[in-house]
Amino acid sequence: MLNAIVLAAGEGKRMKSRRPKVLQTIGGRPMLRHLIESLDALETEQILVVTGSGAEQVEASLEDSGCRFIRQAERLGTGHAVMQALPKVPDDARVLILPGDMPLIRPETLKSLLDSQADLALLSFMADDPTGYGRILRDAQGRVLAIREQRDASADELSVNEVNSGVMCARAGDLSRWLDQISDDNAQGEYYLTDCIAIAAGEGRRVDAVVAPDAEELMGANDRAQLARLEAVFQNRARQALMAQGVTLADPSRVIVRGRINCGQDVFIDADVLLQGDVTLGDNVQIGQGCVLGNCSLASGTQLAPYTVIESASTTGACTVGPFARLRPGTELAEGVKIGNFVEVKNARFERGAKASHLSYVGDARVGEGANLGAGTITCNYDGVNKHRTRIGKDAFVGSNTALVAPVEIGDGATIGAGSVITQSAPADALTVARARQRSFKAWKRPEKKDN
Ligand code: UD1
Ligand code: CA
Repeated sequence: MLNAIVLAAGEGKRMKSRRPKVLQTIGGRPMLRHLIESLDALETEQILVVTGSGAEQVEASLEDSGCRFIRQAERLGTGHAVMQALPKVPDDARVLILPGDMPLIRPETLKSLLDSQADLALLSFMADDPTGYGRILRDAQGRVLAIREQRDASADELSVNEVNSGVMCARAGDLSRWLDQISDDNAQGEYYLTDCIAIAAGEGRRVDAVVAPDAEELMGANDRAQLARLEAVFQNRARQALMAQGVTLADPSRVIVRGRINCGQDVFIDADVLLQGDVTLGDNVQIGQGCVLGNCSLASGTQLAPYTVIESASTTGACTVGPFARLRPGTELAEGVKIGNFVEVKNARFERGAKASHLSYVGDARVGEGANLGAGTITCNYDGVNKHRTRIGKDAFVGSNTALVAPVEIGDGATIGAGSVITQSAPADALTVARARQRSFKAWKRPEKKDN
């Protein structure tokens, strides 16, 4: 029976932020969220999250996670934090303790710790720069004796490169007994969880530090510089995962991933692309330079020319979009649709083969199969109070610079003369022109310059 205790009560002073530390984001999502996802891959009886500073915010961020929350009213240290949660765990249960600021840990690494038969097992790693971490102190035989925190360490101890990740595992009953013996007599005046190690070793219990092969995934983030380092590792992983799915990245270091990306084969992504939220890209989708894609699904063969911005939209067949196009929420494009430069689409469906090639705004509309919207076609969907719909029929042809004042309907096969302001429905298969008639004045003469 495995119980997890996640320590997330700290303020994170070193971040210099109003946001609780564990809610600082990596890949667009809170660090704590990443950690809970890794834990979800293990079979835990319960996940107890110790909250304190910014508790309401932290708890709200995990509302749908099934975690239980324990408030640590005063932050008296990591040992004190664990003590608050232990009463909720049966004495004979195994407890896995994790710091909330460790978003990159993989479930496999946690499993390797859980495989240890030791009475107290912890994950350590070799740090190039151990500054800030607790140092693992071993005897001549390599047995773990203690963990010494940075601020309490001697010069010799500071030179140790094996450091504590903050993840450990032991029986709840043992932990309570050890924690009853720790004190706050140290440089920070805190109850250190890490003092349990020396106590357990002193009882003659088996203490194991499992050295994780990949130091990167155990890195914590106490300040913005460390956060940036974790972000870099996360991005690197995300890019590797994309390439493993069969995606070509023109320059892997220039794609940013802030969400869950699902790609088919032979997708091509050019430089400086940002992917956020849930993004699904079908086979052979081509994403041009500088595109920003949020929560969208693009069907196989869709091509985005550079600097296209998409939010909550989808293509259901191969389409071409951009450059400099904007697809806003509720946009749906069927096969063969073309959306060209400086076209904005919102809450509108384009049927098969419909086109808006230049400089248009199409909102709250349905554009029929094969219809063609000329440059500068605008749906006037908003009367200042309410939104209204525009319906454009199959094979309609709307001349350039037409304003379609909604609610309005353009019939199938209708042609609208350029520059029209359409306020009433236009019949199918007819030419509708709604603009001042052109006149020429033969007798008119240009004014001449007067002599004064
Ligand atoms: C801790 C470890 C250190 C280890 C490092 C790994 C201790 C004493 N030190 O140091 O050995 O190398 O993590 O990153 O455990 N927290 C609470 N309540 C508190 C204090 C902290 O919930 O009263 C939480 C924090 O929110 C954080 C976690 O515990 O998520 C670790 O605390 P932090 O202050 O970051 O510890 P470190 O100084 O990094
Ligand atoms: Ca930390």
